[in-house]
Amino acid sequence: MKIKLLNLSALGFALLLGLPNAQAQQTDKQTDAKIKQLLKQLTLDEKITMLHADSKFGTGSVPRLHIPALLTDDGPLGVREEVDDHWAPRKLTTDSATFFPNGSAIAATWNPALALRYGQDLGEESRARKKDVILAPAFNITRTPLNGRTYEYLSEDPVLNSALAVQAVKGIQQWHVAACIKHYAVNNQEADRYKVSAELSERALREIYLPAFKAAVEQADAWSLMSAYNKVRGSYCAENSYLLNDILKKEWGFKGVVISDWGGVHSTVNSALNGLDVEMGSPGSYDKYFFAAPLKTAVQEGIVPMKVIDDKIYRILNLLYHTALAVDTRKAQLNSPAHYKTAYDIASESIVLLKKDSRLLPLNLSGIKNIAVIGDNAVRHFQREGYGAGVKAKYEVDILQGLKNRLPKANITFARGYNGDYKANAPDSVKAVTNKPNPKLIAEAVAVASKANLVILCIGGNRSYETENTDRKDLSIPFGGQQLADAVLAANPNTIVVFTGGAPYDMGKLKQQAPALLWDWYNGSEHGNALADVLLGRINPSGKLPFTFPASLDDSPAHALHTYPGNDGVAEYKEGILVGYRWFDTKKIDPLYCFGYGLSYTTFSLSNLVADKTSYTPADAITISVTLNNTGKVSGKEVVQLYVHKDDSAVERPEQELKAFQKVLVPLGKSIKVQLKLKASDLAYYDERNKKWTVEPGKYVLMAGTSSRNILGKITVNVR
Ligand code: BGC
Repeated sequence: MKIKLLNLSALGFALLLGLPNAQAQQTDKQTDAKIKQLLKQLTLDEKITMLHADSKFGTGSVPRLHIPALLTDDGPLGVREEVDDHWAPRKLTTDSATFFPNGSAIAATWNPALALRYGQDLGEESRARKKDVILAPAFNITRTPLNGRTYEYLSEDPVLNSALAVQAVKGIQQWHVAACIKHYAVNNQEADRYKVSAELSERALREIYLPAFKAAVEQADAWSLMSAYNKVRGSYCAENSYLLNDILKKEWGFKGVVISDWGGVHSTVNSALNGLDVEMGSPGSYDKYFFAAPLKTAVQEGIVPMKVIDDKIYRILNLLYHTALAVDTRKAQLNSPAHYKTAYDIASESIVLLKKDSRLLPLNLSGIKNIAVIGDNAVRHFQREGYGAGVKAKYEVDILQGLKNRLPKANITFARGYNGDYKANAPDSVKAVTNKPNPKLIAEAVAVASKANLVILCIGGNRSYETENTDRKDLSIPFGGQQLADAVLAANPNTIVVFTGGAPYDMGKLKQQAPALLWDWYNGSEHGNALADVLLGRINPSGKLPFTFPASLDDSPAHALHTYPGNDGVAEYKEGILVGYRWFDTKKIDPLYCFGYGLSYTTFSLSNLVADKTSYTPADAITISVTLNNTGKVSGKEVVQLYVHKDDSAVERPEQELKAFQKVLVPLGKSIKVQLKLKASDLAYYDERNKKWTVEPGKYVLMAGTSSRNILGKITVNVR
């Protein structure tokens, strides 16, 4: 934590005198002294109060010493509405917020600058809502496409996750709000989530599952972190000494606060000794929490030393000095136009053009009299369905509204086509009733489609179907979406399919049958406006898939190896480091859509791929240059992706791994020289025997492309 701080009494004094910030702030050294002073004054009871929840989202306070409660709230979609002790909304008029696009949408932008803006605006709204900690960003690796929280997380790649998470954390914390990075660690499925143990190799842990957490701590100085529900190697994440004490706090030097997931604590002594700082969301009354009376007893009996408690209190006070107690004279805005613009920009850069047909896209409206918009997703809102965190958005523009906004004179007819009302956590018999085609709605849709000149078919998942606490059973398109598509496409071939979802689905048939196919996300408050602009060509699509879409679920590593959801509470990560495209490329399995895939209304080529040197030491920086040429008919953004391949390695290596990327706007007819920077040390693997990162000497092939399967240039460099 590096920002300047103010001590408690000075805060009141400075405010009283109206002193400008600079005079009022003190140095870290003075904060340290103040915290130490408070540590002397706090009684054991008061310390215990600060270590566990006292409301659904806050800890206890110590009024006697002017120590406020630590106030948290959920992201990542935006600042959650206020709830009572039983999760019931408080129904206030002051707790609406901007609904930001979901995690995989942010990842699909491949644009760290947008992740920074997302963080800044989420931080500002959190501050406006008087939160000290926002429980975001969430960025566990997409290990299985079925994970109910895939939509909430970012991607299947540690480099992409790291780049985005670092910016999001930096942005949030600029507003004196702590980011709470989650869920640490190896939290990759909702099935059995409260007890499943992830058994994985040290290499997989270090190379795949931890890098973004490490980057968010070391590069963005995240001030808090949430321990995951699951176990890692048999030990709950909230009491996992290896993860919390050894790696997080000692190796990475984390100075922030470890907060449990809600109800993720299982012990007093182990949790206290093994690195957890704050207990939240446990069942029962607050005074019965593991970190309440039982912790006090453990301290009195000498089982948990006072210095362990004091370390936790130090961390909490330090966090408070960076947040609630920091001086910040800026007026934080909630629901500002700028925040909605950020939501719009993310949405518009996240949409992925999966299949293009220049007859249909971008929309050419000449001669089009009637447009049919079909599908429940055209009118569905995604801010607050399903289980878990949502946002009470001030507004959310759905797809139908977005089209009407942008085409006020068009004759648009809507037919629902299917009913997406669903309860993912209900018994299977209940779910089966709702998750099926509706012949009557399909017939109505066909009637509307056959009278139109153009159909925009909006199918996919929704936030009840993809949700926390449960995984999807398979990749099938829910609510009879495929049957609806079959019928509508037969009735009118001029159909553009818009698929809204947050995770891979079985799009195999649609890929064949639909002339034009767009992938859309739970895209926040400006969803419909952004989508309409992409359809109309006012925005040239530039989203890239942040995960592999398998042709069949069995092709995915965890499913091919039958290691999901695990047996007897144990999920063996047998695929090791071969997660996502690393598996598909190494095993030579063709995906339906590969990692990094996404088309544009223009076309691009790459030329002149060169490295700044031919030979590097492990301490060197590597700069790769490549020219990106816009060879089509409109301006557009493209993501240049740099992968590395290594032959003759001492260890198993994936066929290729992303090492750098950059999103670039190339005006019509122009070429732009793009520089991609990495460190030779980024080429290292984690050496399990010697417990360290090792850069092997030898040749590395660096490959530049516009997706993991569209490599357009290769060069070989040498590391000495
Ligand atoms: C989720 C967390 C969330 C917490 C509080 C848990 O169920 O796993 O991500 O922050 O609830 O709502």
